[in-house]
Amino acid sequence: MPKAQFTTIKWCTVDKAMKYIGGLICGLRCFAFTILEYSGLSAGKGTPKSNIRDIYHIYFAPYLLVPPEPIGLILPQIDYKIMRLKNKVAVITGGNSGIGFGIAKEFFLEGAQGAIVGRAQETLDSSVAQLGDRFIAIKADVTNLEDLDRVFKETYEKFGKIDIVVANAGGAATGAKLGSVAEIGEADYDKTMDLNLKSVYFTVHKALPYLKDGSSIVLIGSNAAHIGLPALSLYGGAKAAVIAWAKGFSLDLLERKIRVNVVSPAAIDTPVFEKFIEPGQVEAVKKQLVQGIPVGRIGQPRDVAKAVVFLGSDESSFLLGTEILVDGGSVNLQPFKA
Ligand SMILES: NC(=O)c1ccc[n+]([C@@H]2O[C@H](COP(=O)([O-])OP(=O)(O)OC[C@H]3O[C@@H](n4cnc5c(N)ncnc54)[C@H](OP(=O)(O)O)[C@@H]3O)[C@@H](O)[C@H]2O)c1
Repeated sequence: MPKAQFTTIKWCTVDKAMKYIGGLICGLRCFAFTILEYSGLSAGKGTPKSNIRDIYHIYFAPYLLVPPEPIGLILPQIDYKIMRLKNKVAVITGGNSGIGFGIAKEFFLEGAQGAIVGRAQETLDSSVAQLGDRFIAIKADVTNLEDLDRVFKETYEKFGKIDIVVANAGGAATGAKLGSVAEIGEADYDKTMDLNLKSVYFTVHKALPYLKDGSSIVLIGSNAAHIGLPALSLYGGAKAAVIAWAKGFSLDLLERKIRVNVVSPAAIDTPVFEKFIEPGQVEAVKKQLVQGIPVGRIGQPRDVAKAVVFLGSDESSFLLGTEILVDGGSVNLQPFKA
């Protein structure tokens, strides 16, 4: 009996010591990681400043919370959880602005490499400069099929494989008017549909010869597919088709184990507002939008990016043809006061 007590006390002491040593190692490791990433020594040109706090949290918090176990068992598990896209090669269309750039930053933090695609050279350059040398920028128009061919060929030649495609480019088509069914004629119809529908189909179609079996394709939908919104019925129709395609494409690609899913955002704070609202009215429109969002705030690109990381990673291997709404509850909740 006395012997058993002695053993218990001794084991507790060892456990406690392990916890403190774990915390210390974590602190040092977290500090070193942050310095390395931010200074660009480990990842090219550095990590976006706003994400430093996250790295700190991700690296530090688990060590304070974990039950005292041998450190050797804990470290590999935590590393696995952090870098959910380590060594994955991704193509992100529209990765030079708004949600797409948010996705690219989150992919970078999760260990991915790959290409961002857009038309504006200036934002392509500035985005890639912030992402570091794990990402390249490819100037291309996603409504042009030859450009799409080039995007996947160049990415494949540079990285040797492609694991994830994010068909994000979309929204306000250059030169296209938004309006009601009475107002939108053929020319505006074609521009909006080319960007929000045709480009998504051919992004997937053209990626297929280069995609690894078991890859993940994430399409970006919209809340506009689920509810009627002023001047957005055409756009909403395109996004509804995109959601349907995630189901059909997943079935088409079942043998290759390629999963296709959708992330549908609502009211995310991106430059898209400046593209179709008068400059002086943007803030007022955003404030008005918040009224319809149950969580009481406008979304951020990171909110969407987190869901895309999940669908892009192997953690979502049981999800096919499905949709994640990243909308602050605006589609499914109606919080009126009784
Ligand atoms: N923001 C929201 O509230 C919201 C809500 C629901 C859904 N969404 C969806 O989220 C996605 C991203 O929207 P966002 O808000 O981030 O818009 P954004 O800031 O305007 O970004 C759109 C991106 O698409 C690229 N793009 C547009 N036309 C292109 C073309 N023809 N070829 C290649 N790239 C093209 C743009 O780059 P270039 O201009 O350089 O080509 C830009 O990178 C869209 O599919 C949109 O429908 C957004």
